[in-house]
Amino acid sequence: MKIPLFPWLFLIPFLTIFFGVNVFLVSGQCRKDQQSLLLQLKNTLVFNQSLSAKLVKWNSTSDCCEWPGITCDEGSGRVISLDLSFESITGGLDDSSGLFRLQFLQSLNLSFNIFSTALPVGFANLTDLISLNLSSAGFTGQIPNDFSKLTKLVSLDLSALSFPGGPAVLKLEKPNFATLVQNLTHLTELLLDGVNISAHGNDWCKALSSSLPNLKVLSMSNCYLSGPLDASLAKLQSLSMIRLSGNNLSAPVPEFLANYSKLTALQLSSCQLNGIFPQAIFQVPTLEILDLQYNKFLQGSFPEFHQNLSLRTLLLSNSIFSGTVPQSIGELQKLSIIELAGNNFTGPIPYSMANLTKLFYLDLSSNMFTGTLPSFSKSKNLTYVDVSRNQLTGEIPSSHWEGLRSLTYVDLGYNAFNGIIPSSLFAIPPLQKIQLSNNRFGGQIPEFPNVSSSLLDTLDLSSNKLEGSIPSSVFGLAKLNVLELSSNKLNGTLQLHRIQKLPNLTTLGLSYNNLTVYASGGNSNMSSLPQIKKLRLASCDLGMFPYLRNQSKLFHLDLSDNQITGPVPGWISELIVLQYLNLSRNLLVDLEGPLSLPGLSILDLHHNQLRGSIPVPPSFITYVDYSSNNFSSFIPPNIGTWPRLQIVDLAFNHFRGNLPNICLKTWEGMMEVGNRSLEHIRYDPLKLTNGLYYEDSITVTLKGLELELVKILTVFTSADFSSNNFEGPIPDAIGQKHASVKLIDAISLYGVKLIEEFYRTDIINNKMAIFLRGAIVLPQIGK
Ligand SMILES: *[C@@H]1O[C@H](CO)[C@@H](O)[C@H](O)[C@H]1NC(C)=O
Ligand SMILES: *[C@@H]1O[C@H](CO)[C@@H](O)[C@H](O)[C@H]1NC(C)=O
Ligand SMILES: *[C@@H]1O[C@H](CO)[C@@H](O)[C@H](O)[C@H]1NC(C)=O
Ligand SMILES: *[C@@H]1O[C@H](CO)[C@@H](O)[C@H](O)[C@H]1NC(C)=O
Ligand SMILES: *[C@@H]1O[C@H](CO)[C@@H](O)[C@H](O)[C@H]1NC(C)=O
Ligand SMILES: *[C@@H]1O[C@H](CO)[C@@H](O)[C@H](O)[C@H]1NC(C)=O
Ligand SMILES: *[C@@H]1O[C@H](CO)[C@@H](O)[C@H](O)[C@H]1NC(C)=O
Repeated sequence: MKIPLFPWLFLIPFLTIFFGVNVFLVSGQCRKDQQSLLLQLKNTLVFNQSLSAKLVKWNSTSDCCEWPGITCDEGSGRVISLDLSFESITGGLDDSSGLFRLQFLQSLNLSFNIFSTALPVGFANLTDLISLNLSSAGFTGQIPNDFSKLTKLVSLDLSALSFPGGPAVLKLEKPNFATLVQNLTHLTELLLDGVNISAHGNDWCKALSSSLPNLKVLSMSNCYLSGPLDASLAKLQSLSMIRLSGNNLSAPVPEFLANYSKLTALQLSSCQLNGIFPQAIFQVPTLEILDLQYNKFLQGSFPEFHQNLSLRTLLLSNSIFSGTVPQSIGELQKLSIIELAGNNFTGPIPYSMANLTKLFYLDLSSNMFTGTLPSFSKSKNLTYVDVSRNQLTGEIPSSHWEGLRSLTYVDLGYNAFNGIIPSSLFAIPPLQKIQLSNNRFGGQIPEFPNVSSSLLDTLDLSSNKLEGSIPSSVFGLAKLNVLELSSNKLNGTLQLHRIQKLPNLTTLGLSYNNLTVYASGGNSNMSSLPQIKKLRLASCDLGMFPYLRNQSKLFHLDLSDNQITGPVPGWISELIVLQYLNLSRNLLVDLEGPLSLPGLSILDLHHNQLRGSIPVPPSFITYVDYSSNNFSSFIPPNIGTWPRLQIVDLAFNHFRGNLPNICLKTWEGMMEVGNRSLEHIRYDPLKLTNGLYYEDSITVTLKGLELELVKILTVFTSADFSSNNFEGPIPDAIGQKHASVKLIDAISLYGVKLIEEFYRTDIINNKMAIFLRGAIVLPQIGK
């Protein structure tokens, strides 16, 4: 999962450029009429006195040319520049405010306020304006026709923070875009990000190219523009910044963009671009920023890079670039931000990257890179490294990370790195996240040299081959939030209450090591533990149920594969946010309470000695496994109506009576759950998919095959009733398609025709299958 906060960072430098305008102008003696107009303006504006830095200081006892936010013309005392940005102005701005009689204004900046009103037509009065900045000022609705009277404008900024598909607050319908810009022929900067322009490629491109010959900055991201980019744009030879991200251009990137001799920034993320990206654009000598992220149909590959290039920021993630990264990338001495995540790059990560001394942010995750990791020790300003989910191998020398004083984030997970964990990594002072899971690191976990000043909040070393005991310094990492050490070969004993020293801990994973964890049962001092959300203690040699009564934030609890005896404590039902409960493979005998947990989605009690009636799980359950216990009696008749139930396993118990008429017809998809280890089923309710929207998803690992099943609720179903004492007819509903039902050795069932040959179910094709005594019945034959 990856959160692309990153693009927003780019706005900051641009914003500062455009606010800096009046720093260079000089003040003089204020004219009385100008002063009274300004005071009139102040009186009509509603603003927060405590947040205001400028307006609050305006008063008649001082020269208005000295007021913050005001610049006067030196000789005449006319107010020529007014900057009320970030003044927390709320409420409207109307034509009586006095603002529109300040007719000498050349520069007006009202950005970052909350005017929450339509744009007043009075702006048309300010015909001397050269620069108008209303960015994120909170104005709404149609941009008035009168704006086209501001013919001296060189810079017009009506942009708002926006995202693809987000709401547009301003729009250009009547007048449309072409009408607005036709008289603004002096414009060199046009920023309309987030304005609903809704124009077709031919129209907006031709309007720009015929009306704005001097345009340098074109910023129209998220403007509901469609493509393609018209060839007439090639005329705008002064263009230096092109920002059109978040428009559905649905077209290839035209070659002519490589001919702009002054191009410094090309930002076309989330544009539904397709075809093959022209390599010549990478080689534009002036280009500093290239952003092509989230164009899932855009192909391309890197050319050779030359020393004379200026690239600083290269953002290509989540497109379909392929091929290798050339060694010549090391020539790009200014390169500081590289995002190539989620493409199809192959081959090694060039060792020449070690020469990128300006490197600040590197994300190469989710590609097919092979080979070893280059050193980063020369990139002194490196803050973020993610090379997870590739096929990288080899040892990582400790020297690779030496001297890095700014690193906060390292993710090397899901590769095949081996050797020992580079100890220098654990000594980097600002480091907050270390994620090395799913590799082949061996040896001992290094000690943290400087625990008291450590900022580490995530340490994920799970699924490696680490040995030895857990270093004691780990329990001094006071900022630690996630400690995941599961699935290694760690040994030794651990008193659970040692995590008391980690007051911020929310995830603890110690499952599947050779550890012996002692958790006090009963009413002990466990209430002083931090408030844990995820606790994974599978296969930790636990002999008793840990007392977790006060853990009111716990939503994931795995105590499977231990030797826990006695009953399941009744207080479990007090853990009302619990979504995942796995108590399988223990020696539990009884349930003290009804397990009435409203949020429970996955419940695994298999392989215990539980008896009596099964607990009736809450109606939002998706997975229940009661198999291999001593449950008897009848199963709840309404089991088939639980709306989200995907997988139900009642096998190997003493259930009797008729099978209830299970509504399998509402369950789609099919899957045999061969591997019962729920450790492999991860329920991620908030999964970031295309970078912006969250969706339900689940990852299921079956026989080494990892499938990500988005919207599990509609695609994944399996039921197993085998080895019980059921009798009577097989319910009709089981014959419905798209379900896998296992009835092996369910005695006395009749009504289905057998096929001799065992048929392996095919998860890809949505076929339905019923397993009966090792044979399978396909419905089209059985019915
Ligand atoms: C007027 O503003 C000046 C400068 O900001 C300040 O020193 C003075 O106290 C203010 N006077 C009143 C009456 O608020
Ligand atoms: C526009 O300027 C004229 C002349 O200064 C003035 O009379 C008129 O009130 C102004 N309009 C607005 C809306 O302020
Ligand atoms: C944008 O404008 C078009 C045409 O005026 C309109 O159909 C569309 O709903 C608008 N979209 C948004 C998000 O405002
Ligand atoms: C983008 O536009 C194309 C062509 O107009 C259309 O087929 C496609 O559905 C649009 N995609 C999105 C995400 O709006
Ligand atoms: C690292 O960042 C600092 C502060 O931003 C800057 O002064 C310095 O030049 C940078 N070092 C390199 C090698 O880019
Ligand atoms: C440990 O932290 C202290 C205080 O922050 C610092 O002075 C010292 O250099 C650090 N030692 C190491 C080995 O990083
Ligand atoms: C812990 O739970 C007990 C009841 O089991 C309660 O009396 C006590 O107040 C709780 N402590 C905290 C810190 O919530």
